[in-house]
Amino acid sequence: MPDFAAAENPLREGLRLERIPAPNTMIIFGASGDLTKRKLLPALFNLACDNLLPQEFAVVGFARRTKSHADFREEMMQAIKQFSRRRQFDANLLQNFSERIFYHSSTFEDEGGYAGLQRLLEELETSHQTAGNRLFYLATPPEYYPEIVQRLGQAGMARNGRGWTRVIIEKPFGRDLDTARELNRQVLSVFEESQVFRIDHYLGKETVQNILVFRLANGIFEPIWNRHYVDHVQITVAEDLGVEGRGGYYETAGVMRDMIQNHMLQLLALVAMEPPIAFAAQEVRNEKVKVLQAIRPILPEEVEKFVVRAQYSFGSFGGQQVPGYLQEPGVVPDSRTETYVALKLYLDNWRWAGVPFFLRSGKRLPKRATEIAIHFKSAPHLLFGAHTAGLEANVLALRIQPDEGITLRFAAKLPGAAIQVRTVNMDFRYGTSFGKPSPEAYERLIWDCMLGDSTLFTRRDEVEASWQFVTPILAGWQQRNDQPLPQYPAGTWGPPEAEAFIAPEGRRWRRV
Ligand code: BG6
Repeated sequence: MPDFAAAENPLREGLRLERIPAPNTMIIFGASGDLTKRKLLPALFNLACDNLLPQEFAVVGFARRTKSHADFREEMMQAIKQFSRRRQFDANLLQNFSERIFYHSSTFEDEGGYAGLQRLLEELETSHQTAGNRLFYLATPPEYYPEIVQRLGQAGMARNGRGWTRVIIEKPFGRDLDTARELNRQVLSVFEESQVFRIDHYLGKETVQNILVFRLANGIFEPIWNRHYVDHVQITVAEDLGVEGRGGYYETAGVMRDMIQNHMLQLLALVAMEPPIAFAAQEVRNEKVKVLQAIRPILPEEVEKFVVRAQYSFGSFGGQQVPGYLQEPGVVPDSRTETYVALKLYLDNWRWAGVPFFLRSGKRLPKRATEIAIHFKSAPHLLFGAHTAGLEANVLALRIQPDEGITLRFAAKLPGAAIQVRTVNMDFRYGTSFGKPSPEAYERLIWDCMLGDSTLFTRRDEVEASWQFVTPILAGWQQRNDQPLPQYPAGTWGPPEAEAFIAPEGRRWRRV
């Protein structure tokens, strides 16, 4: 039997032991979309394989198309086999899991559809003993969020009832500060903040969770984690893929909305925040939001000084020729949507005053690599004269993906009679140190939500603070949209402007 008391006990919750959530039903709005197939169902299945789901569990797909429970089950079984991180499938486990999958067909606007959903949930609560706990997952295009939330409210399904009710909301959460505020207002007119879980899947990645452990479970790093020792910080999220048939969506986003407003500013917050007084939702998020609020604004008229944007053009990748962004399906021929951004920002607080943070992200770069690199100041006095001139200062690189690990770069003496100095790496790799695969981000986050732990989800004020920074940059671009964007050939590290941008103070982009 699952330990219900433990699931709701905040003191024990602080320990974050591997626990089994209380019985519940998860309802996925937008169940015919890609996210459900590629991420959500495989994540649920992996949780079941790891014995982290309660036995009393059901999942209901809610979408427009008419289909039977059996058809939906069949589709989801295929998806699990294709996308699950596990490559071996126990037939009994698959069968047992598939019996917990249900489907409800309705448009998002149809009041009757929600009444039907309520009936199905009540049936499942009896047949599967899911105890009235409900987790709604909004995996639809964002324009449907207000409608679904309103309808759930009107149908009386948003309040905590016999059990708990929670809602996970996918990104993008708004498209600028005003729309994010409005969406928050709509959501919070129906749900309490404690019921709302705004998801950013980067926070569920093992290596991202390790940022705080690395900083705060070790005594030696925190004392040097500040303006006295750090010269600058580089955060890179490089993707080798292009827009992969998502041109229509990407035209409404661009890398600023797609990656920087959410994933990258979350990485920044974790790297730069003050130590919280506890590893708990309010405490961690209180510190994160202070970082986001401390970012010095980049005003529309300053955008060119602090931000470089560009688009990939025709190029080659892995020996294959690939189209430029403007040739991708769903992209307008004179699009000004950016597929690459490099920016410099400052945090106006005591710890980081004067330390630049360089962020860059792009599609169709030479490789997939996410990394946070802390570049320390050079040694104050160079004893070894000519041998150390031009030597790179210490760099601590937190490799988020795909080659997960941490590297410290430092100077060492080359063996031999003469004193010759070279930089070398000290390396930690997850793969070799732990020898077990990490769970997928969605597994961790869905499980946390079922346990009621919102530490790894973004709070209302965090989302608004990040849009507060991003919105004036978008406005600055809007004013300059009569000019085409700089281009970089697919498969290269961005436009020459990005190199020139970081160079004036003698810095270079790190080769990740
Ligand atoms: C998503 C973006 O949020 O993150 C995608 O919409 C991007 O455009 C993806 O490719 C990257 O996620 P990951 O986990 O592959 O680094």
